[in-house]
Amino acid sequence: MFGFVSTCSRCGQENPDGARFCNACGAALTAPRGPGEERRLVSVLFVDLVGFTSRSEKLDPEDVRAFLVPYYERVRSELENHGGKVEKFVGDAVMGVFGAPVTYGDDAERAVRAAFAVRDWAEHEGLQLRVAVNTGEAIVALDASPERGETFVAGDVVNTASRLQSASPIGAVLVGEETYVGTRGSIEYRPAQPVLAKGKEAPVQAWLAVRATAAIGERPATPVAMIGRDRELGVLTGIWERVVDEGRSHFVSVFGPAGIGKSRIALELAQLVAAQDARAIRGRSTPYGASSPYSAFGQQVKQTARIFDSDEPAEATEKLAAAIASLAGPAAAEEHAPNLATLLGFGGDREPADREQLFFSARVFVEALAMRGPTLLVYEDIHWADGSLLDLLETFGARVRDVPVLFLALARPELLGERPGWGGGLPAYTALPLEPLGEAAGHELATELLGRVDTTMQAEKVVETAEGNPLFIEELTRCIGEQQAEGLDELPTSIRAIIAARLDALPAAERAVLVDASAVGRVFWRGALSEIEDRADLSEALGSLEARDLIQREAVSRIRGDQQFAFKHGLIHDVAYATLPRAARRTKHGAVAQYLEATTDVGQSHEALAHHWREAGESDRAVEHLVAAADQAGRGWAKQRAVTLYREALELLGEDDPRRRDVMRRLAVALQAVYHLGDVGYAGGSVSGKSAGDTSPATS
Ligand SMILES: Nc1ncnc2c1ncn2[C@@H]1O[C@H](COP(=O)(O)OP(=O)(O)OP(=O)(O)O)[C@@H](O)[C@H]1O
Ligand SMILES: [Mg+2]
Repeated sequence: MFGFVSTCSRCGQENPDGARFCNACGAALTAPRGPGEERRLVSVLFVDLVGFTSRSEKLDPEDVRAFLVPYYERVRSELENHGGKVEKFVGDAVMGVFGAPVTYGDDAERAVRAAFAVRDWAEHEGLQLRVAVNTGEAIVALDASPERGETFVAGDVVNTASRLQSASPIGAVLVGEETYVGTRGSIEYRPAQPVLAKGKEAPVQAWLAVRATAAIGERPATPVAMIGRDRELGVLTGIWERVVDEGRSHFVSVFGPAGIGKSRIALELAQLVAAQDARAIRGRSTPYGASSPYSAFGQQVKQTARIFDSDEPAEATEKLAAAIASLAGPAAAEEHAPNLATLLGFGGDREPADREQLFFSARVFVEALAMRGPTLLVYEDIHWADGSLLDLLETFGARVRDVPVLFLALARPELLGERPGWGGGLPAYTALPLEPLGEAAGHELATELLGRVDTTMQAEKVVETAEGNPLFIEELTRCIGEQQAEGLDELPTSIRAIIAARLDALPAAERAVLVDASAVGRVFWRGALSEIEDRADLSEALGSLEARDLIQREAVSRIRGDQQFAFKHGLIHDVAYATLPRAARRTKHGAVAQYLEATTDVGQSHEALAHHWREAGESDRAVEHLVAAADQAGRGWAKQRAVTLYREALELLGEDDPRRRDVMRRLAVALQAVYHLGDVGYAGGSVSGKSAGDTSPATS
């Protein structure tokens, strides 16, 4: 096909037809991502130059261009450095999008930080800007190419962002509610005047972004004690004690998805280490904005040598040499300080002969440090690390031996996608996966957090929704506290964004299978997936998704001769389903309904069929099955259920539909039975608290 491009699912780069690896990031390219459209949470940024139109009237067109081109370029590069994309330039306004085509889970924060960067630059250049960021759901055309002027994001979120931008004070960054809610942990805000927007009844709530209060990728600490990780902390302290007692090194990788508690358990260990007067030094990799590929290690060296980022290179080099001299003597300083300076990015133009030399100097530094006393070196978020840092860490693990140092690397499971062999072959290595908190621990955490907010909401609901993820428990209780709400009807955007990022990190083929499966339900069958789309690589994708712990093959299948799977997490199911636009939902549900009709005894699956036909937009068929399901429920004396199902059927029937009367009559009969059942339960006290409708009556 002429002009066909495949978009990299990892970085969003467009690659020519036939390319097997991404030109920008080198990731393997798989088949283009199924449907052309998706619903996504995005953050939209608008920047506009103030007074530009009136000024440009007086300028020669060439001068206008000479001025605009560098401005566009600067805005584009700031957006892209923060993981965003320019959607379009309109005169002097720029619209940027974060969260599409790929989300990183913290898109709103990136957008606000990019807005700060653009604003600060403009201030420096003496330009006046208005900037705004707004977050919300949009429909995204995944195969559109903004470079060619094709629009790729549409929705109210865009219009509102534009309105906010016009209302933004000069030199300020104004944001909408979802952006504010999603980023206030790391950005400081001041309330702003609500913005009146055309076509909107209520004014749009707005906040002024003041400054960032946390480092990039960092999560502010919470005051709750760590709960339910005794065993895992026991493993880590056990290893630490061995390192100290035997004077030998060890390498540990802690694995787990976002928010599961990797940083937290590392912090607990670091506190324990510090309490023993031993050294604990942390370095972290960030998703963007790193100063050098070895930045995480660099931070540790800088902390040791008391070098600040604001130091001039000469001063930094001097401090570095002094630190090495005090650790390992002047000769070592002379040999290794220049190499370390290069590694850290302030070594000037000097280029060592090979990487081995650099790594050797780094190793000497670590060994000298540990010879002074037991040392814990923490590497946070190495799934974001550059390959060179990972190589350096593996070198440490393999070569640093007879000194008491514990290397503790924290990673999301994505790391293993890029480095399947991570840690393999290291002489003293432990991989520690962090599983979701158990029921009791989750409950304890939720109760503890809910105790701090004023609500009658039960901890059970939070625990059930959060599925043992401490961060999700925190986010849910925070939302409850703020909205004073009793229910959790909608998933907070912060959680949705984090899970969406996990989906986006999947190879395109696997992600597509997962999205299809979400239309089938939390439980799904291989055959239903084939009915939705005939795929050659289906078995492979299912196997891989299972290996990633996203789905699970179930031992027993409800459909004979077909493999049954289930989503391991309801949240992943929900977020995958939320990406489907309405049209795609309809076709997929239609296919599932057809599959169920062909494979099941229809009597067994009226409710499922009703659900899928309804979502497929086939109301007539849905009504048929709803009524059949209701009749069936009624016969089993599940009268309440029957009532619900008849009501659902009525909702689908038009006011003048001839079938209405019949359904009404059945509903009336069922309702009468419900009242009657209620009487029995009340009078005789014999109906258990479970559900009167599910209990066969003792007398009738
Ligand atoms: N066992 C626990 N008890 C109480 N709070 C916890 C526990 N584990 C984690 N938390 C809290 O949950 C939040 C998320 O944890 P943390 O930041 O450690 O996650 P993470 O695994 O490092 O995630 P990421 O991959 O995004 O870095 C933090 O506020 C943390 O304090
Ligand atoms: Mg962390």
